[in-house]
Amino acid sequence: MNPIESMASATTRARVGGGGRVPVGIGGRVRGRGPLALPSRGRSNVRTARSAAAGETAPFRLIQHKHEAWWFYRYLSQVYDHVVNPGHWTKDMREDALEPALLHVAHKRRLSPLKVIDVGGGTGFSTTGIVEAGVPAENVTLVDQSPHQLEKARKKPQLKGCTIEEGDAENLRFETNTFDRYVSCGSIEYWPDPQRGIVEAFRVLKPGGLACMVGPVHPTHCLSRFMADAWMLFPTEQEYLDWFRAAGFTSVKLKRIGPKWYRGCRKHGLIMGCSVTGVKGLSAEGESPLELGEMAENRQTKKAGWFTTLLRVILGSLAGFYYFVIPVYMWLKNLVLPKSVKFT
Ligand SMILES: C[S@@+](CC[C@H](N)C(=O)[O-])C[C@H]1O[C@@H](n2cnc3c(N)ncnc32)[C@H](O)[C@@H]1O
Repeated sequence: MNPIESMASATTRARVGGGGRVPVGIGGRVRGRGPLALPSRGRSNVRTARSAAAGETAPFRLIQHKHEAWWFYRYLSQVYDHVVNPGHWTKDMREDALEPALLHVAHKRRLSPLKVIDVGGGTGFSTTGIVEAGVPAENVTLVDQSPHQLEKARKKPQLKGCTIEEGDAENLRFETNTFDRYVSCGSIEYWPDPQRGIVEAFRVLKPGGLACMVGPVHPTHCLSRFMADAWMLFPTEQEYLDWFRAAGFTSVKLKRIGPKWYRGCRKHGLIMGCSVTGVKGLSAEGESPLELGEMAENRQTKKAGWFTTLLRVILGSLAGFYYFVIPVYMWLKNLVLPKSVKFT
């Protein structure tokens, strides 16, 4: 049994409440009876429909799979904090992104402390932001599918007291209505079924709880778009909004974020390009109204072989390397060009 399969079989989920689920299509439209047709491996419903309508070719998204992401982070975890954060996800970006999550509210108003889950928390950079915003470490749970990323998180003194454990964003082991806040930063791009992960966010939140998802945004520049689509999922801003609304969230908002030295340039896309928030209504006790049926991996009869996985990880990592060059290029551009020049 491989690491992902063993994690999936170990996950026994207690569902409390239930709250009348109806099959709903993307954008909240009722689609008729039966489970929503799941996206094929690595493709979202929204993007598939949009691509077909636009006559675009389907992107490869080589690492938008659980096994491939697991192997990708097997190695990237060794250098993650040193190479990813400085170029893509700085402390001030984190502050900016987590601000709509209103993490400091309870602390400031002397209310009982919030219970927060950070999904795809990795080495704990986003989790550190949650703790620094005033949430007691004992109330914070960090979940990630990569034991190698978690190993790094466990060594961080700021995260002492947090619950740190392996888990799958699309199949959380927690009971319905458990957390006040759901946070996930830079993880959605690896989820084969992003809508399912957002439905899980809705489920584990208490009524009145708030979800905050930070993630990439799709590039418009042709080379960047090719590399992004070869690597993983870079959703459009509209896709985030549609997924959140379809999951049942209300007051859905999107805040643009990005490294300062990009001067607002978004044409190359951004690995951390927006922070999307949504509220689980006070009367919305229970699960999401969006019913998704069986998980794609449970329905798959033919699993990808080791050679396919290896090839996807290697080629996907090569495409990802382009995104380690882009921030350096933007940084140099910012250094050289006068401050008055606006980047498009
Ligand atoms: C770019 S890192 C972000 C880590 C952290 N949130 C941060 O702010 O630095 C993405 C993380 O998502 C995790 N991940 C990918 N797919 C996942 C899944 N299906 N369930 C849980 N974690 C997942 C990866 O293992 C990785 O640690």
